[in-house]
Amino acid sequence: MNVSSNVTEKQLDSKAVHPLAPYKTLEAEALQSRIEAVRSSFGDSLLILGHHYQQDEVIEHTDLRGDSYKLSEMAAASQACETIVFCGVHFMAETADILANRAEKLAQRAGRRVTVTLPDMAAGCSMADMAAIKQVEAAWDDMSEVIDTERIIPVTYINSAASLKAFCGRHGGIVCTSSNARAVLEWAFERGDRVFFFPDQHLGRNTALAMGVDESQMPVWDPYALELGGNTEAALEKSRVILWKGHCSVHQMFRPEHVEGFRNKYPGIKILVHPECPREVNDLADVSGSTAKIIETVKQSPAGTQWAIGTELHLVNRLKAEFPEQAIHFLSPVVCMCATMYRIDLPHLCWTLENLRDGAVVNEIRVEEETAKWSLVALERMLAVK
Ligand code: 13P
Ligand code: SF4
Repeated sequence: MNVSSNVTEKQLDSKAVHPLAPYKTLEAEALQSRIEAVRSSFGDSLLILGHHYQQDEVIEHTDLRGDSYKLSEMAAASQACETIVFCGVHFMAETADILANRAEKLAQRAGRRVTVTLPDMAAGCSMADMAAIKQVEAAWDDMSEVIDTERIIPVTYINSAASLKAFCGRHGGIVCTSSNARAVLEWAFERGDRVFFFPDQHLGRNTALAMGVDESQMPVWDPYALELGGNTEAALEKSRVILWKGHCSVHQMFRPEHVEGFRNKYPGIKILVHPECPREVNDLADVSGSTAKIIETVKQSPAGTQWAIGTELHLVNRLKAEFPEQAIHFLSPVVCMCATMYRIDLPHLCWTLENLRDGAVVNEIRVEEETAKWSLVALERMLAVK
């Protein structure tokens, strides 16, 4: 792919007519055929990755789809491709850039980089935005006044900026996803006395509870509190897992009363949730797991099984369509969808691909070298944990 220019959507926004405007007026059919035309012209040199929360019309045009863990493995393994178009959110594209362009891979490709793009730069993650590197560094300094930070292992959920992953790399820490959080915490406890877990308090708490850690040993660190994240010295001294006060705005919408409502209405129904849900919901569920585990659990179940599923709406609707012989319900009465994932739509995908065809890279994601180097340390530790 011959790349002659590099522009972001923000830069383009300053022009009188946004270049995306013509794409917004096209019918879905036209967009679909134009997307497919570019895909076939690129062949194997183009890899379109999609997270399970993407809308169906986007998923149809992806080469591979997966949960955060599987997608990072795919990016790490990428061999033939020259460009990855990431239909997911910003932290996923950052992770793909770090893994696809690590030194070992560059050497195999005689120095050629894989270009990673995100069709809409506004596709962020509200949870990732709840922990800024300056806040995490300040918290680390503050807690060092009370506890020995040499004995704390920082663990960042993959849903975080690359700078936080780099922080973990520098401080003997690691990255986790929702599918390996327990194995990662076990890894951490083999190396330190405590874990500092960010940015999702729920995944951290639910995982540690399942491992037998008592909630009284899991203080929550509020980055906006005046002192010690809102904790006493005694609470930090007895802590095993210090949880960052962050959450997913989608999964926090599921409530225990929704579980009770479904159990009353459909006796025998099974509750299946993502561990980003709050403890009160996670504790009531029959099964809790990453998006890949949710899909696998439904796939393995016999016809007639009744489910109420607590995760992003597009995935639940896809499961309903793919497994009509099971009775699948969405766990909440209100719409819980990831508004930022939803920003990736056919017009953005088509615009991105046609620019690539014309030699222009739009919305390139490229992590600064030093940050990428240290993030990779934490990501490779994660990929080595089985
Ligand atoms: P998984 O892909 O790990 O299941 O996580 C869901 C999620 O919130 C992605 O942002
Ligand atoms: Fe972030 Fe939640 Fe959306 Fe996942 S579902 S990308 S955690 S806001």
